[in-house]
Amino acid sequence: MIIGKPLDRVDGPAKVTGAAKYAADQHIPGLTHAVLVTSAIARGKIIRIDTGQAARSPGVLSVITHHNGPRFAYQPPKHPWIYGQTHVPLQNDVIYHSGQIVAVVIADTLERARYAATLIQIDYAVETPEISVEANLDKAFIPERGPFNLRYEYRRGDAHGALATAPVRVSGRYRTSMQHHNPMEPTATTAVWDGDHLTLYETTQALAFTRQKTAEMLGVDQKQVRVVSPYLGGGFGAKGYVWPHTFITAAIARSLGRPVKLVLTRAQSYTMHGHRAETVQELSVGATRDGTITAFVHSAVSQTSMLNEVSWEEMDATTQLYACPNAELTRRVVRLNLGTPTPMRAPLSVGGYALESIMDELSHATGVNPLELRLRNYSTHNPENPSQPWGTGKFLRDCYELGAKLFDWPHRLPRPRSTRRDGGWIGVGMATAFHPTYVSAATVSIRMDADGKALVRSATQDIGTGTYTIVTQTVADALGVPAKSVRFELGDTNFAPSAPSIGSRTAASVGTAAHHAGSALKDKVIAIAVADHRSPLYGIPAAQVTAADGQLFHRLDPRRRETYADVLRRHGPVDSEAVWPAAPGISRSYGAVFAEVTVDDATGEVRVTRLVGAFDIGRVLNAKTARSQAIGGMIWGLGTALTEHTIVDEHLGRILTANLSGYLVPVEADVPDVDIAFVDKADPAASDIGAKGVGELASNGATAAIANAVCHATGRRVRDLPITPDKLL
Ligand code: MOS
Repeated sequence: MIIGKPLDRVDGPAKVTGAAKYAADQHIPGLTHAVLVTSAIARGKIIRIDTGQAARSPGVLSVITHHNGPRFAYQPPKHPWIYGQTHVPLQNDVIYHSGQIVAVVIADTLERARYAATLIQIDYAVETPEISVEANLDKAFIPERGPFNLRYEYRRGDAHGALATAPVRVSGRYRTSMQHHNPMEPTATTAVWDGDHLTLYETTQALAFTRQKTAEMLGVDQKQVRVVSPYLGGGFGAKGYVWPHTFITAAIARSLGRPVKLVLTRAQSYTMHGHRAETVQELSVGATRDGTITAFVHSAVSQTSMLNEVSWEEMDATTQLYACPNAELTRRVVRLNLGTPTPMRAPLSVGGYALESIMDELSHATGVNPLELRLRNYSTHNPENPSQPWGTGKFLRDCYELGAKLFDWPHRLPRPRSTRRDGGWIGVGMATAFHPTYVSAATVSIRMDADGKALVRSATQDIGTGTYTIVTQTVADALGVPAKSVRFELGDTNFAPSAPSIGSRTAASVGTAAHHAGSALKDKVIAIAVADHRSPLYGIPAAQVTAADGQLFHRLDPRRRETYADVLRRHGPVDSEAVWPAAPGISRSYGAVFAEVTVDDATGEVRVTRLVGAFDIGRVLNAKTARSQAIGGMIWGLGTALTEHTIVDEHLGRILTANLSGYLVPVEADVPDVDIAFVDKADPAASDIGAKGVGELASNGATAAIANAVCHATGRRVRDLPITPDKLL
């Protein structure tokens, strides 16, 4: 059994030796370089844009503004699904947000393009931007649902009635910050035309989306567009959809007749491929005195842009996690002069933070231990659909048990603000992690050559999570060959169409197709062997033949055996392909997260001293990559709780933290040892290989667990993230 083993990343050596070619690493003859000029104001109009000096600067091939911007035959629809935003820049003089693209300079070298870009002079008519969610709450509205069918309203039972009559009622107003994705690899695109065929070397979490939308905008057939993205240095949602810089670059390359490369600067990545929206949430819970929940009422307002109305911060945990007969959910948006939001790793963590905080507040109000409170309200059926049992795929109880044991969670919590250590208050907190399971259609093809080596291909992505490795393992396992006999290639639309890497779906979707393709190929080779009189397996019923370590053998008489290579040397290469259809995500992933913090008396600084997570991700496909995902996810949750926060200047509407020097992601010194445990039981309802998503699940729960621990330590409930020291003084 190779599945589950902590196999080292098969793409690791290529990455650490520099052999891995990322989107911006392609050496292309005649390559030119694009540099973007972005709006210095957040709202208003361009009155004058002087490009004369830039155009005359050495090496400059073209300067593009709204006067001569590429014109597109296609106008994207109002809802941005798959398009990151549907407003196309460089079409008119209107400024909707700071950092909007207002000019593009193309030159023969990056340095010359960058210099020429500084020579462009722009006069604006400036208007006062709207940048505050709080100040615009009275203008909040429910957006159009759009094709993705985002759910903005939900109701079951009589939530307000049940709340009014509940013996215990707790309400909270929670605020979460605007955040940015900050993948290590900046977003980049290189557009190369050959006649009317385009090759795009693109940083994308979704090859198919990029191909489809770029073709649509450029008015060419999808078959004329090839998207290549073999390696990604993270994405977190920023590379999930198709943003204007991509098709603008392709359009410029077409009209220029030269290949063009564009790499966003770190600062530009704060305005050009989305962000996590700031939210203000009101959440109330009603319960009996023993903590049995009778009602949830949850309403949220999040920011959207002037360009698109959308909210990705889904709050399904409130209506699906705990047994509760009455629930109401409302999500509204306010338009601000900021870029268009997009999904950012674990969009559900925003609502989940509020839910798991109010659970802690309910625990304080009822005196029921936070862990016991969650067990008391455990759901065995989908609370939204009582005829749908969660069935044998829900192992949240195991998560609670495993995590509590690892953490040594106390049966009786000391009173808040009662325990001290080293000049600080100490506290513990816990929370549940919850994430839906998504599955998309995936196709995997395999060719095995006469040397017995399998070449596996699929037009999917590895965003850094380990797709290369887990698919290699899954195929090796299905074939019964060592992992080193399998090579997996991905990241090219020339391969069979496959799943996007969004919503933690790649492992379950592509992994299942890989499993079936591997099984199909094994069956083919066995059928060939048993029909071949030259084979030691000749005449054995196919069902009696199996494979391990590259050998095919008779189950009852293992001495009758030969290798895959033996069969294929006589017969020639064998191919297989398996399609795994999109399936409704009826499963959920779960986890339990436990945190201990100390809060310094004098400075208000919070240190996380222990962090434990136990997760139900179905079957673990690779113990090492899954653990890395879980550790990274929990640290992500720590950042949300304590450090991460995009800060916007309230007068200018400009992002002040648009760099890793100002945007605080946790560093090594902020992070304690993180203990991870997996239940590791297959969920057959999630996928045929029993796997569910881990990447986003693992960043749910930690934020609330830490916030709850801060409250336990200090006796103060901070409902405004991140919990920076000033909020505790
Ligand atoms: Mo994700 S936020 O679906 O990359």
